[in-house]
Amino acid sequence: MNMNVSHFRQGVSKVRLSKDAFAELLTVRELFETVSQGVRFDTKVAYINPLQSSVLREELNRIRNMIDHESHVLILDGFKVDKLSTFKSLVWTFSSLLGVPMVQNHLGHKVIEVYDRGGKSIEAGARYHQTRQGAYIHNDGVSDPLPIDYLILACGQKALLGGESILIDASAVYAELMAFPDVLEELKCDFFFENRGMSEDEQLFKAPILYFSSEGIPLIRYFRVYIESAHLKAGVPLTAAKTQALDFLDTVLDQSSVQHRVLLEPGQVLISADNKFLHTRTNFIDMNAPRSEINDAEPLSDLNRYMLRLWLRKQ
Ligand SMILES: [Fe+2]
Repeated sequence: MNMNVSHFRQGVSKVRLSKDAFAELLTVRELFETVSQGVRFDTKVAYINPLQSSVLREELNRIRNMIDHESHVLILDGFKVDKLSTFKSLVWTFSSLLGVPMVQNHLGHKVIEVYDRGGKSIEAGARYHQTRQGAYIHNDGVSDPLPIDYLILACGQKALLGGESILIDASAVYAELMAFPDVLEELKCDFFFENRGMSEDEQLFKAPILYFSSEGIPLIRYFRVYIESAHLKAGVPLTAAKTQALDFLDTVLDQSSVQHRVLLEPGQVLISADNKFLHTRTNFIDMNAPRSEINDAEPLSDLNRYMLRLWLRKQ
């Protein structure tokens, strides 16, 4: 296949669809747009006629294989466009061909726009994607007992300053913690999690922070603020041993030896296996004052830091 794969700093693979695959993607998108007029853009999924788009199908399989079995993370380049509406439909078409988009909030939205609304903080109950806060290392699949197979973060615009993505491989974290068997044992026990923002009814569930795939690959589920909040709501305070285990974990996550940093450029799409990679971003400063609403007709070049996020399950 012609898909261009190159490696750059700290080993995150950078991938570009071949010219033919991208042309096939644009054809699928045109067809999709004619059948999805008048509904929110993430309501209907795009699909490929089995007799068409053979190059695109092959390259989607290659990407799935890289995320499932090889690097578990990559950056897909080449999605830079001028208008926000074009960016949204391109990212949606590609993503809904790669996997099955999951609902991400209580409104049933399958694409979440990640930008600073200028409102309340995470500590005051906001969801991460509505703020410009950095520093909390987490994965997204903390609100649902089932994992997210493909986490998509597509960059429409970057910040004036900052907003780097930090990626941390669960295997590297596990390797560092092998020196502290008691901590590892504690992290393999159940903690409370909450479904913040996912439904009108608040639900708590129990799950371990560290666990393993059937092939023995370390998997992780972690967002400390949500865990602390869930334990408070459950009326089950974190024990001293559990708190200490979280402190050890946070300290490992702070080490440069486990972190990969990337600054996504407009048109770049980060794809990762959410339960194998923790992530966060650094603080950022935007060009303009924050706004709660953005119009689809706006050019991407006028926007503050703007990302689209999707959660996909395997087909
Ligand atoms: Fe996240």
